[in-house]
Amino acid sequence: MYWLMLGIALFGIFLIVLYLMSPLLGPKALSLHRAHVLVTGGSSGIGKAVAIEAAKQGANISIIARNKTKLMQAKQEIESFLKNSEKQKVEMYSVDLSGDYSEVEKTIKQAELNLGPVKLLINCAGNAIANYFENLPVSEFRRMMEMNYFSTVNVTKAVITSMIEQQFGRIVFVSSVAGQVGVFGFTAYSAAKFALRGFAEALQMEMKVNNIYITLAFPPDTDTPGLAAEQIGKPRETKLISESAGLFQPDEVARVIIEDTKKGKFLCSMGLDGYIVAMLTAGMSPVISIMDALQQVITMGLFRAISLVYLRFYDGVVTQCAEEKKKDN
Ligand SMILES: *[C@@H]1O[C@H](CO)[C@@H](O)[C@H](O)[C@H]1NC(C)=O
Ligand SMILES: *[C@@H]1O[C@H](CO)[C@@H](O)[C@H](O)[C@H]1NC(C)=O
Ligand SMILES: *[C@@H]1O[C@H](CO)[C@@H](O)[C@H](O)[C@H]1NC(C)=O
Repeated sequence: MYWLMLGIALFGIFLIVLYLMSPLLGPKALSLHRAHVLVTGGSSGIGKAVAIEAAKQGANISIIARNKTKLMQAKQEIESFLKNSEKQKVEMYSVDLSGDYSEVEKTIKQAELNLGPVKLLINCAGNAIANYFENLPVSEFRRMMEMNYFSTVNVTKAVITSMIEQQFGRIVFVSSVAGQVGVFGFTAYSAAKFALRGFAEALQMEMKVNNIYITLAFPPDTDTPGLAAEQIGKPRETKLISESAGLFQPDEVARVIIEDTKKGKFLCSMGLDGYIVAMLTAGMSPVISIMDALQQVITMGLFRAISLVYLRFYDGVVTQCAEEKKKDN
């Protein structure tokens, strides 16, 4: 009994020491007040919600998207949330991110001339398609890479020089739960989002010396126009599997992304399922807080056991759908 108490007490002290040390590992928290925040895909969905959250916190904002009408509407909406409408500005740029790199670079230069060096880049531009592998044309695989991966590479490349000059920067890649776990129906989309992970880990290792921190966000299904479009052709299995994780609102996802980014956290997840998957798939990813590292160390084995239950459930869904299809034929 005595030894047990002593053990618990020592472990408690160990945790407190780790907790006290943990902020020492991370960068200084970013304040968005007066910061230039640039959001791609900023005219709708998570991108617009993130821009609104940054506006509330006093940032100057540039949004990039293709559709001028939507950009104009989004600009007005974001402006209605400004903390100080006399000092803060919202600028918009209509660009096709899948166009030539020089166009992207020109736009970023212009945005930096208007509002100063970008402190925080949020790559939200992206697009999902869900269908059975046998029904997906190979061209869709290429398109998914263009929209989710290469667009992020090009924009990030265009801001990195000035961030290195400033010796300051934060970059967000918006991935997806389907970028942590390969999900039924997402052969093309999951692969493109997984690509972001490799890019993010390598880039973080290169950029830490320049005080540049990358955040990889893994939102679950979020109530956006993008999700609505994605429903077209979505296999029933995909719906049943992803719906089990629940539906999130863009503003709650945006709040988590902004908070984690300000701290410089590498992995950013939402909800209990999101937390479990993030711990489970932490792998060799960079970590800036001892508390996070400790949680990963302690939970990984347990969460792997829980994941087996999830995998069994997914298998069940797939088997049941296959049997129903056989009956229908
Ligand atoms: C926004 O940008 C303008 C123009 O660069 C600058 O004068 C102003 O201080 C910035 N405002 C905030 C709140 O950052
Ligand atoms: C742009 O967005 C508007 C409003 O959502 C839509 O009506 C229009 O068709 C879109 N234009 C293009 C070229 O996609
Ligand atoms: C990125 O830049 C390259 C080089 O200009 C270009 O071929 C590509 O289309 C650009 N954008 C995307 C999304 O691939």
